[in-house]
Amino acid sequence: MLSGALRALFLWLSNRRWMARVALATPLLRRMPLRFVAGTTLDSAVAAVRALNADGASATLDVLGESVSDRASAERAAAAYVATIERIAAEGLDANVSIKLTQMGLDLGVDACLEVLQPVVEAGDRHGIFVRIDMESSAYVDRTLEVVARLRDSGCDIGPVIQAYLHRSPDDVERLAADRVRTRICKGAYAEPPEVALQERGAIGDAFVALVERLLDADAYPGVATHDPDMIERVKDFARQRDIGSDRFEFQMLYGIRRDLQRQLLAEGYRLRVYVPYGTEWYPYFMRRLAERPANVLFVLRTIFGERG
Ligand code: FDA
Repeated sequence: MLSGALRALFLWLSNRRWMARVALATPLLRRMPLRFVAGTTLDSAVAAVRALNADGASATLDVLGESVSDRASAERAAAAYVATIERIAAEGLDANVSIKLTQMGLDLGVDACLEVLQPVVEAGDRHGIFVRIDMESSAYVDRTLEVVARLRDSGCDIGPVIQAYLHRSPDDVERLAADRVRTRICKGAYAEPPEVALQERGAIGDAFVALVERLLDADAYPGVATHDPDMIERVKDFARQRDIGSDRFEFQMLYGIRRDLQRQLLAEGYRLRVYVPYGTEWYPYFMRRLAERPANVLFVLRTIFGERG
């Protein structure tokens, strides 16, 4: 009950631009995201990826930012992604990129977004680096899948994320499985009403596993994005029963979360990709991480005040 209310509160706060401005302008608060974000610069992100690669994990780099409302800002974000891809290639890192389309101008229209994305997907193609398109709130799902489909039709190595909590997701996954599109499945991180999304943890878990199984059966190399040990065991069991090798899917987790489980999966010989966000626009991303686990607030308070003393 209390954790449900806190979840709603943090998701509400994640959309408050004035709170973001306060947080970014306050030196003490700028320490908040340290555990969940690799740093504010590309150099800090590259250092984090190198460390992950040394441990046997691959990475996906996220240049933090979303809900951009003018073309110039969207183009600046796209340029940051091109620089990220060039750097991944130059350093020979085992990494790809994850992008939010509202950062690439999706609110300006699908065509504008495709134009902004063009240099990014060209850089990906040039260096053979896969481009993952994150999924945002339900209002964006149709447009996001349209952008992915149009880029795939033009030959780009690109794939979407599908959120297990959405009622529509089995149909979306059916289409993606038919084309063997490399898709990440996650539970879903936004506040959605019951008409749009499952609300109950057990039902979301069952939906998650069913979607992953469909993509495994289609041999579509799904990304199994969760820190939930129960989901992970159920996916491992299914793969074992069907004799699906550990090279035909990958587990994915967020930077700084369940590092114990990350190490365990690697030790067991499974593939693991860690989502590494970097940049200054950390506020909404960070609030969603608090919403997923309100106890993180205690951890954050320790980070802020503990290290001051
Ligand atoms: P669940 O929330 O049940 O957590 C299981 C356990 O994991 C918890 O008991 C706790 O131990 C640990 N845990 C989970 N979240 C934590 C946190 N924030 N801090 C500390 N511990 C935590 N969503 C979306 O809508 N669109 C997207 O594109 C993506 N992309 C994405 C990529 C990757 C690689 C991951 C791992 C996740 C996403 N998500 C996402 C987020 C996803 O939808 C979901 O909100 C989180 O993964 C939390 O759900 P879990 O499946 O981890 O289970």
